[in-house]
Amino acid sequence: MKRVFVSGASGNVGKLVVRNVLEREGFELAGGWCLEAGRDLGVLAGMAPAGVISSADLASGLRDSSPDVVVDFTSTVVLMNNLRVYADAGVDAVIGTTGLTDGEMAQVGEMVREKGLRWSVISNYGLGINLVMDFLRTARQYYPYVAVTDRHPARMANAPSGTAATLAGIAAEGPKGEVESHEVFPGVMGAMISGVPVTSQRFPYPGPYSEHEVTLARQDEVIRVTVQDFSSEIYMDGIFLAVGKVGDLPRGTLARSLKELV
Ligand SMILES: NC(=O)c1ccc[n+]([C@@H]2O[C@H](COP(=O)([O-])OP(=O)(O)OC[C@H]3O[C@@H](n4cnc5c(N)ncnc54)[C@H](O)[C@@H]3O)[C@@H](O)[C@H]2O)c1
Repeated sequence: MKRVFVSGASGNVGKLVVRNVLEREGFELAGGWCLEAGRDLGVLAGMAPAGVISSADLASGLRDSSPDVVVDFTSTVVLMNNLRVYADAGVDAVIGTTGLTDGEMAQVGEMVREKGLRWSVISNYGLGINLVMDFLRTARQYYPYVAVTDRHPARMANAPSGTAATLAGIAAEGPKGEVESHEVFPGVMGAMISGVPVTSQRFPYPGPYSEHEVTLARQDEVIRVTVQDFSSEIYMDGIFLAVGKVGDLPRGTLARSLKELV
């Protein structure tokens, strides 16, 4: 039985994580933390009362509930601080919150190594996008031209999405096609992330909606792969794969993709 603590328990993704912890075999809800302190986590997730109350303070919530693993879907603003709390507690962690800079990510890697932690920090726990990432790693060397587009609701906090930045990082490895066009309006061909043009589009899509498109091209051939996600439910299998496996990683390991967990 894995005891799970959910940070961001009242959010779009966090509520579903709580629901899945309560409904899936082999997991027990240890506790949770969110802006709505002192509330029953089952009720926050739209279910019957679970008898587990959201903590007002993250560190003491973790200490009092001693979970096997913490799952974090909170906000970029609090993430670095949360990670320090998890490191001090020495707890296994499955991190979904996005928005860390490359410098912060390097600090996280250091922290995991130094403290012998077992963490997964993955920008997208969805199956489809992970398969596209694998395809991109294989195909990129044959296609010198590459671009990434992410499309999300207008209320989304960050642009680009963490997933778009991750896709750009993967696409960075490979031959570089020559583009002769001069940008008459700066940035019109996308912002360069790891040398890959990335464009973010924000529209008033209903519900949690996420779309990522990768375009690969070589002379006379274009491949365009689009993953559209219509609910946060699609992250659950990947998140629970990570929750189940993160404790099997060797100490001091930071997994950055689902592949490293299977
Ligand atoms: N890795 C993935 O697969 C994946 C998938 C979807 C979303 N995300 C990321 O997960 C994060 C959460 O997304 P969401 O749509 O669920 O967000 P949300 O805004 O719906 O929920 C955020 C949660 O964090 C809590 N929170 C925020 N600030 C807090 C604070 N100062 N103190 C305590 N609690 C606080 C809120 O109460 C809420 O429970 C975002 O960074 C998003 O980009 C990642």
